[in-house]
Formats: sequence, structure tokens, C-alpha cells
Amino acid sequence: MHTLLAVGVAIILFAYFILQALLHSTQNKREPRLLEFTVPFLDSAIGIMRHGASYLQNLRNKHQVSIHTLRMPFQRLYIVHAPHLIQIIQSKANAATFVPNLLDFGILFSGLNKDAQISLRKAVSVQGNGFTISVHKYLLSGPSLNTATKAAIDRLSESLPKSFTDNHQEGLLELVRHELALALTGAIYGPENPFNDPEIEASWMGFLPGISHLLYSPFPYLTARKALRSRSRVIDAFKKYFRTGGHLQAFPMISEMYEINKGHGIAPDESAKLELATSLAMLSSGGITTFWLLFHILSDAGTMRSIRDELYAVAKDESKNGDITRRTKVLILNGIKESCPTLLAMLNETLRYHSTVINIKEVQHDTTLAEQYFLKKEAIVMIPGQSVHHNTDIWGPSANTFDHHRFISAEFKKNLASTSAFRPFGAGVTMCPGRHFSTNVILSLVAMIVVQYDVLPQEGQWVTPTKRNADLWNAMPKPDWDINVRLVKRVAEKEVEWKFVWSEGATVV
Ligand code: HEM
Ligand SMILES: *[C@@H]1O[C@H](CO)[C@@H](O)[C@H](O)[C@H]1NC(C)=O
Repeated sequence: MHTLLAVGVAIILFAYFILQALLHSTQNKREPRLLEFTVPFLDSAIGIMRHGASYLQNLRNKHQVSIHTLRMPFQRLYIVHAPHLIQIIQSKANAATFVPNLLDFGILFSGLNKDAQISLRKAVSVQGNGFTISVHKYLLSGPSLNTATKAAIDRLSESLPKSFTDNHQEGLLELVRHELALALTGAIYGPENPFNDPEIEASWMGFLPGISHLLYSPFPYLTARKALRSRSRVIDAFKKYFRTGGHLQAFPMISEMYEINKGHGIAPDESAKLELATSLAMLSSGGITTFWLLFHILSDAGTMRSIRDELYAVAKDESKNGDITRRTKVLILNGIKESCPTLLAMLNETLRYHSTVINIKEVQHDTTLAEQYFLKKEAIVMIPGQSVHHNTDIWGPSANTFDHHRFISAEFKKNLASTSAFRPFGAGVTMCPGRHFSTNVILSLVAMIVVQYDVLPQEGQWVTPTKRNADLWNAMPKPDWDINVRLVKRVAEKEVEWKFVWSEGATVV
């Protein structure tokens, strides 16, 4: 028995030293510093499992590095924290050296078959990604952005009075996630939106935990079977949607993407799977952002008052003269971005403070960064937004606290213009094309809730949830638990009929 144990220990020690030797002999002296801990090649996997999305920021705080190397089996990662290095990586001159690789992620989680993968990769290398090109074309600006925003807001103002009845009780995240999900997908997929079916919405939620398995588990088809069955149900719903012509009644972006993919030689049913990417973009971060924004507003009486005052000030009373029983108020939502500075500052601070965005790029050829750091071909560059958003050199000593008024002051506002300092939507040519669409709709949903309801935590007080189980792939971290709330119609608003309007003629952005 003792000899067996001794042999076991000897084998482990031997493997350990071999791996250490391998790690160091393959690490170039000019590469960014290798942060080493205990288990060669597995440190980062262990770290991510233990600390989740905060892992990379914790490393920076502990070691005070601008850039460093992490090693994984068959893969090296360069983690970049310093704004001056981020700026160089993002510069136009370096666009061909550091290339974003969202496509792999999309192919992985949509479950595209081999033939379709080959066609898509070939087409994208020649013509670019039809998915991102179309979303940029339709949602980034102009009349089509306005049309999509209006459609989403019309859906919210129709559904809110039905679901948010007086004294309604639910989790705050669940409440806003569901409303926003149906508004955004409804605006884009039109009347035949597959998510209108509660079973499909539930299947989507069942699929989400599977994404981490697809990314990090060696055997996702064993460890995430239930999630992948849920994914199949969503995919089937999209196949049916396209077969029955649902896309012909949708926002034109959807049929354009479908035709582009078919044009690449991808079978119709495989093209349908690619809608998982559009859905993920729409459904992953918006509800979570709305949750945190509302949490910070609702839990601070002073801020709540300021925001209500701003909103009531722009609402127009359209009651018929003399009719006191039926008062009507109209809120033109296009104006929020100009006339509600507190609400807008809170949205930006919510994004800054909570964002867990990690920008990922692949190094195309050996290169030297800032004449100092040697970076190897095929390595992955990761830029954790958290490090940047909590950097005291940029945001001052209060970088790690939530400051309701931060973005009211001009001193910090200037940082918003720089994607090396403020990057919840990413940066460069791949910067989120849905950012105006989503922020228009998020601000509108928050406005609709705040003017009409008091939202009371069932526990009596607001307790900030932790975010330990947030998904590493998500740009915004979900709270570890939902907060049960009760909606109470504000006494003064009980006799008022609110109308919420996004006027299509107005300019946006
Ligand atoms: C609060 C909500 C949202 C957040 C925080 C968010 C964040 C992000 C981030 C961080 C990226 C990566 C950018 C980069 O690599 O530089 C991204 C990409 C993208 N987002 Fe969003 N997003 C949101 C909502 C939306 C919505 C509603 C859509 C609508 C379809 C959308 C569509 C996209 C698309 C198509 C891309 C890929 C762009 C490309 O690679 O060219 N996003 N988003
Ligand atoms: C919020 O951030 C955006 C940039 O993402 C900026 O254009 C806008 O002015 C900011 N608003 C406030 C009130 O800070």
C-alpha cells in the first residue's frame, strides 16, 4: 500500500515538473509576463471556475500588470488591462493584426452542421458576416432604427398595463426580462415572433446555461443534455417560422439575413439556426441592464425623485378640458435622452459599474506591441472591460463604487467618448450595432415603470445581490438571485391614462 502511494506521488510530481518545464521553455522572454500560480496550464480554468467574470480584474488588482500571459492547453491568452495598450490594439493600423472572432462562438452555440459551417466560413472570409453586416445596416442609425424602436415601444405600451396590474408580485429581473424580450424580439421578428409562444421563451431560458458548457466543457453533449434539448425546440420553432413565411412580415433585416445565408449555399433549415445569434444579441444583456438600472434607481429615494421630476416635466397633459375623471398624459420618449440627464447618467453608470464585457481578438501573425511585448501568432488577446471601468487612473478613487451622479459632472463625461475608457458595447468596427435600439427601449421601459408605479421590495429593503454565478460570455452579469417586488400603482396616477409614444419622424441618437 505504501509503495503504491509513493509511486502515485512520484508520478504526480514528475508530471508537475515536466509541465513546469514545458510551460517555461515555450514562453518567450519578450512575451508579456507569465503569471504563475499552482497548476501549469490549468490555473486560468481553475481561476475562472472559482471567481467567474471577476477573475481577470482580480489578477490585475493583485499583480498591477498592464498586460500578462495566461496559458491553457494548446492556447495562450494575453490579457490586456492598460488603456494605452488597448488604444494601440484598437487602432486602425492594427485592424488586420488583431481580428475579432465572433464567428467561432456563433457557430459553436448555434449547432450548425458541418456543411453549413464550411459554407459560412468560406462566405464570411470573402464577403464578411451577413449577420453583423445586416444588423449594422438596419439598427445603427437612420429611419430603420426609428421604425424598430417604435415597434418595440408600441409593444411595451400595449403589454405593460396587462401584465403590471396593481399589486402584481414577481421577481424584478423576471418582470423586466420578459417584457423587454417580447418587445425586442417582437419588433424584429414581427407578428409571427417565435418567442410569443411561452414554451419557446422557456426553452430559450433553458438553453442559456448550456452556452458555458459548449464553450468550456469537453463533453457538452453529456454535461448539458437538457440545455441542448431546449435549444432544439427553439431551432425547430425558427425552422417553422421561416418555412411558413414568418420572416416576410418581419423587420426587413431578418429576411435579408436569411437570403444572404441561403445565397452562401447554406440550407434553409441551417440558416434558421443562425437566428440563435440574433436572439442571443437581443436577449442576453438588455434585461440584466434594466434590472441593475432599476435596482439603483429604486433603492435610492433621492435619485428616484430626480428622475420622476425630469419625466413628469416632459410629460404633456392632454386631458380634455373640464374632464377630471379621465385624465390623459403623454410622454414622448424620443426626448428622454435630452431632457432626463439623471436617468441617462444612471444608465451609463450602470453599464460602467456592472459591465463584464470581455473583448476577444486573435493575433494574426507574430508581432511586437508598443515596441515591448512580443505576441505570438494565433494567441488570443482578451480585454476585460471590468479592469478598464474600475481603473482608478481613469475614474478616480471612487472607481469601485456606484456613483449615481458621476456622469452628471463634466469631468467624467469626457471619458464616455473614449472606448479605451468606457466600453460596455465593445469598440471599433464590431462595436455593438444594437446599442441605440437597446438603450432607447431600456430607457423607455424604465420611464414607463417609474412614472406609474411604486416598486416595493417584498423583504422590506433593497439588498444588493451578488454576481458570482454570472456567465463569462455575457457582457452584463446576471444577479445571483432575483428580488421579489410588489408593484403599486401610484395614487396620483390611478386616474390617469398614460400614453407612451415614440414619434417616428423625430431624429434619434
Ligand atoms: C444592453 C444591451 C446590450 C449590450 C450591453 C450589448 C453589448 C455588446 C457587446 C459588448 C458586443 C461586442 C462588441 C465588440 O466585439 O466590440 C456586442 C456585439 C453585438 N451586438 Fe450587442 N449588446 C446589447 C444589445 C444588443 C441588441 C438589442 C442587439 C440587436 C440585434 C445587439 C446586436 C449586436 C450584434 C449584431 C453584435 C455583433 C457586432 C459585430 O460583430 O459586428 N446587441 N454587443
Ligand atoms: C452616456 O454615454 C454615451 C456614450 O456611450 C454618451 O454619448 C452620453 O452622452 C452619455 N450620457 C450621459 C448623461 O452621461
